[in-house]
Amino acid sequence: MNIPKITKILDIQNEAKNVKTITFKYPNKSKPGQFFMIWIPGVDEIPMSVSYLDKDIKEITFKKIGDATSALYKLKKGDRIGVRGPYGNGFQPKGKQVLFVGGGTGIATIAPAVEHTVKNKNKATVIIGAKTKDELFFEDRLKKCGAKILVSTDDGSKGFKGFVTDLAQDILKKENIDSIMTCGPEQMMKTLLTYSNNIYFQASLERYMKCALGICGQCCIGEGLRVCMDGPIFDGETLKNVTDFGVYRRDSAGRKVRF
Ligand SMILES: Cc1cc2nc3c(=O)[nH]c(=O)nc-3n(C[C@H](O)[C@H](O)[C@H](O)COP(=O)(O)OP(=O)(O)OC[C@H]3O[C@@H](n4cnc5c(N)ncnc54)[C@H](O)[C@@H]3O)c2cc1C
Ligand code: FES
Repeated sequence: MNIPKITKILDIQNEAKNVKTITFKYPNKSKPGQFFMIWIPGVDEIPMSVSYLDKDIKEITFKKIGDATSALYKLKKGDRIGVRGPYGNGFQPKGKQVLFVGGGTGIATIAPAVEHTVKNKNKATVIIGAKTKDELFFEDRLKKCGAKILVSTDDGSKGFKGFVTDLAQDILKKENIDSIMTCGPEQMMKTLLTYSNNIYFQASLERYMKCALGICGQCCIGEGLRVCMDGPIFDGETLKNVTDFGVYRRDSAGRKVRF
């Protein structure tokens, strides 16, 4: 599990502007919210959430932003990548009615948990937020699975005009939500936590990762929590005591970088 398994890319799909999904064979058991370390030969190894999971087939969905994701973006069907994992804990929604909030590519991390919730005969309301409509994806996929979908864009080009957190606050007032699951920009998740009151809350965090095995300490937050092992999903009560949450992350050299 901790040595990259070389696997062939079976399919590639364009999802939105600069966002692609890669499908590959990887028979390991995975849970919604877990992640893989993806090795792009000759370039880098980076963490990526599982965006679709079946027994043998897995998918990752990513945005082209730097060297590794740009190299991944250029790969073609039949090319090879290395995969190790899955790592991390996974989402654990509580109750019958779950609110999922995905900001930007965060919806890729959330999608399998939405499908799992509906499959377990619970209700899923999903808010997909992006800066503009060209950056939205997974709306049709999640509608098809039976979830209620709401869209928000900062510029109002589709759905609610404004921040995803404003729409979430509205839903929290109107509906009887039992738990909130989120992934997206950290300041967005921090705002959402302040709106959650006593509703059970889980957020998926991103930190620079090297080993993903709990050894190097690169991904530590708060009082020695390792995002790769203790997370990447943390509940609201834990996050209230993590002073770095929504304030800063660390770069590859361990220096603090403010959000
Ligand atoms: C648990 C987890 C799950 C993730 N899931 C997804 C996903 O499903 N889809 C997606 O698009 N992105 C996801 N990411 C983010 C993704 O790993 C980074 O966007 C990617 O590593 C950027 O690499 P780059 O070389 O293209 O960009 P760079 O220009 O090198 O970096 C751009 C940004 O990515 C961060 N980054 C770079 N290398 C790493 C690394 N080894 N570990 C963590 N962050 C890094 C940098 O800190 C920087 O903020 C996830 C990150 C984590 C920690
Ligand atoms: S990435 Fe090494 S301890 Fe988490």
